[in-house]
Amino acid sequence: MDILIERADGVLTIAFNRPDKKNAITAAMYQTMADAFVEAQGDAAVRVILIRGSAGIFSAGNDLEDFMNAPPAGEDAPVFRFLRAISSAEKPVVASVAGPAVGIGTTLLLHCDLVYAADTASFSLPFAQLGLCPEAASSLLLQRVAGYQAAAEKLLLGEAFDAREAQRMGFVNRLLPAAEVDAFAASQAAKLAALPASSLRVTKSLMKRASHHDVQTQITDEAVHFGKMLLAPEAREALKAFFEKRKPDFRQFD
Ligand code: COA
Repeated sequence: MDILIERADGVLTIAFNRPDKKNAITAAMYQTMADAFVEAQGDAAVRVILIRGSAGIFSAGNDLEDFMNAPPAGEDAPVFRFLRAISSAEKPVVASVAGPAVGIGTTLLLHCDLVYAADTASFSLPFAQLGLCPEAASSLLLQRVAGYQAAAEKLLLGEAFDAREAQRMGFVNRLLPAAEVDAFAASQAAKLAALPASSLRVTKSLMKRASHHDVQTQITDEAVHFGKMLLAPEAREALKAFFEKRKPDFRQFD
């Protein structure tokens, strides 16, 4: 199973479990996660959702073979079902990032309520490097949390940055030694699970409601560009280059 779902003491844990491919996320994995969010929403016994990776890796982002061979089609594609589910989750979502978080591995964190990371974790948004554009409303949410220039640097250059910088930017709550981050995030989730669900629900909805519409619109608008760019020659060259383990050559394009 590439996604492990576990329920215990009010916490539903979603764990990436595809370490041989650095937890790259396939359509089937998005589907499983979207279903887990929907199920959690309807189940009063679930008070909190916890997302984590596997030892030393959070996620290498969208599966690049899927991008090449089975790009997401239409708004009911699993990736969009997942994005709608996480961005509208009414229950608290906690993330534990023990290693690299690439692409949607980073942008999904912008929809979490509490994010804990290993001090050795790294983050990157290599959309432009792949001939693509931001997704998951990151073109809106990253500048909101970090300010315009900080967000522009990460989204235009696409270079990896470290956990300290992610914390300074504002989307990581706290850094921990890698061996402790999963346990700490789980203990924070357990604290939330013991609080009155109604208070958490109302608090979260009050904080989120002002931006909910903008976030949903941004996800949809980005997806229109992203879908077209995924089929364009620049992205085809970038994806081919990744699997051929070489640098892409973008000079051939206007
Ligand atoms: N999709 C599909 N396969 C991926 C992948 C992805 N996003 N990320 C890594 N893999 C695969 C590699 O092809 C490799 O497979 P192989 O063993 O069959 O050759 C395996 O996972 C290990 O990856 P590798 O690159 O050797 O690991 P690393 O530790 O040197 O680097 C990363 C890890 C995450 C930095 C690097 O794999 C990477 O940059 N991946 C692409 C990330 C990306 O661009 N994501 C999309 C963002 S929109």
